[in-house]
Amino acid sequence: MSFDPVTALDMSSPAAKREAYAQLAAQVRAVLEGERDWLANLAQFAALVHGAVPHLNWAGFYLAQGETLVLGPFQGALACVRIPFSRGVCGACARTRQVQRVADVHAFPGHIACDARSRSELVLPLLAAGRLVGVFDLDSPLPDRFDADDQAGFEAAVQALVDATDWPARFG
Ligand code: SME
Repeated sequence: MSFDPVTALDMSSPAAKREAYAQLAAQVRAVLEGERDWLANLAQFAALVHGAVPHLNWAGFYLAQGETLVLGPFQGALACVRIPFSRGVCGACARTRQVQRVADVHAFPGHIACDARSRSELVLPLLAAGRLVGVFDLDSPLPDRFDADDQAGFEAAVQALVDATDWPARFG
């Protein structure tokens, strides 16, 4: 199976952005179709998002092992490997199981600066049948990069990923 190269989606207006996220969710379903392996699917998802969504410097996963998040597949610069649930934006997402949308990472108490270029951040929980298996973390070099439409778009994309994947028992 081969895929067309990933091209950047047009998110230059609110209408274009909504259309772009509908396309992204459709691309996730198409790329993951017929494959349920967690490692393959997370790697493909990170590459798809990083290639298709503008103004990101990092996109990737942390998997939950007990009360610690452990680095998974990602695109971007080298990252922190282990993050306790008690720390950072990713930890807050894992602890609360709520999306964390941070307009200014420098103003977030306990933010972990893996990449000094990051100015804003969006972290979404991966919830499989009520189990927190990990989080999906997005960093942008632009302040206030993520609005409510970005959040809704990524919630749909992540849901498509969660539904398309078998999650080993050791996560969560
Ligand atoms: N900034 C995150 C850490 C992960 S990196 O950005 C890849 C945080 O505060 O949880």
